[in-house]
Amino acid sequence: MLKTVETQLSKTFLSKEEMASVFRRALKAKNLISREDTAVLFYDLDFLSERILNLKSLFPKTTFHAIAVKANPLVRILEYIKTLDVGLEVASLPELYLAQKAGFPSEKIAFDSPAKTREELEYALKAGVWLNADSFAELDRIGEILEKTQSKSRIGVRLNPQVGMGNIKITSVSDAFSKFGIPMNEHRRKIKEYFFKYEWLKGVHVHVGSQGCPVYLLLEGIKKAFDFVNEINEAFESRSLEKRIEVFDIGGGLPVSYDVSFKPVLMDEYHNLLREKMPALFSDDFQMITEFGRYIHANTGWAASRVEYVKREKDYNIIMTHLGADMLLRVCYNPDDWHHQFSVVDKDGNLKKGEDKFSYSIAGPLCFAGDILARDIELPYVEEGDFIIIHDIGAYTLSMWSRYNSRQIPKIIGYHGSEVDFEILKKRESEQDLIDFWT
Ligand SMILES: Cc1ncc(COP(=O)(O)O)c(C=O)c1O
Repeated sequence: MLKTVETQLSKTFLSKEEMASVFRRALKAKNLISREDTAVLFYDLDFLSERILNLKSLFPKTTFHAIAVKANPLVRILEYIKTLDVGLEVASLPELYLAQKAGFPSEKIAFDSPAKTREELEYALKAGVWLNADSFAELDRIGEILEKTQSKSRIGVRLNPQVGMGNIKITSVSDAFSKFGIPMNEHRRKIKEYFFKYEWLKGVHVHVGSQGCPVYLLLEGIKKAFDFVNEINEAFESRSLEKRIEVFDIGGGLPVSYDVSFKPVLMDEYHNLLREKMPALFSDDFQMITEFGRYIHANTGWAASRVEYVKREKDYNIIMTHLGADMLLRVCYNPDDWHHQFSVVDKDGNLKKGEDKFSYSIAGPLCFAGDILARDIELPYVEEGDFIIIHDIGAYTLSMWSRYNSRQIPKIIGYHGSEVDFEILKKRESEQDLIDFWT
């Protein structure tokens, strides 16, 4: 059920009181959570709508907002997103299948990927989805296919503006070296030639990086590519050609905060800066595409993971719980760059506040030493049967699920704000599902 919500953002984070209250009611709800649900994921669907409607309200009406599937590929969530009249960005053919399964028509799907096969390109062109090529070689493949096939696809090319790296190396993709896109500095001439060579090539795509890339860097990368687009359009004009680059895809990448004490840049502010730096991008001359993922999803999801044991030692305490590096890969493998906040509730979902704080490490269930979600953090007194609430897990967590130790993917529950209308978005993975996976 879609509720009308304000397009203004009412909050940046879900508060721990809010999450505890929802969890308390979920524990009491009939047939919702059972003993075998050692961990459960929750998504606040109203908060998700609010983020998307806020995004839509800021940009020109003609903008195609393609929400990144890689951030959260749950089909029920994609179906929900569809009701808000936006589209999806897919980064692989299987993600394209998911978008189609969720009912998105081709004109609401943008397909990016640096490794599209000839068959995948044929499929995408036949379907008529938006297509961003990643290299000259891919553009040539598209050209060959279009010689024999008609297509309604609108086609762009990804450029790497080479503006440098953000704070997190592995999510920065616009350094001098990057596996994505065509490096602009080295290939300005050839890129121009390709726009003259291929009549159907009418778009430019740029994505500077994801989380860790400060807003000034995102703006610098987008502006560099946009200035180049204007230069190419002037070249068309000076030769009295009608053709022009008319689609500009700014990608995603707006970082979010994983810490309530750190105020993130909100979409309103990012949008104002884009508009201020590139007013022409907001004119009727361009069809804009956006591809936000993390900003839309990250703060709308949280997890409750049961405390199975607490190991109390003289120098340290370890909480043994049920989600670890299977779902939170980045935190476990790269703890210097990635963090979540945690709260503790008792077995009935009551928030533990506790004046006294104790130092704990939180460990997942997997069979390797690095399966640690947090080290030496302060929490109220934790005991067997409590639940650890892991905040802000709505993006790039479930979508990165690792099969190591074959733990079953937990139940996923959606709800609307503070109301008690829970819906199971995905059942807990069954023993048979698991056996099928490995058979
Ligand atoms: C091409 C492209 N578009 C969009 C995104 C989404 O980025 P974010 O979730 O940071 O908004 C990514 C993330 O990797 C991407 O590679």
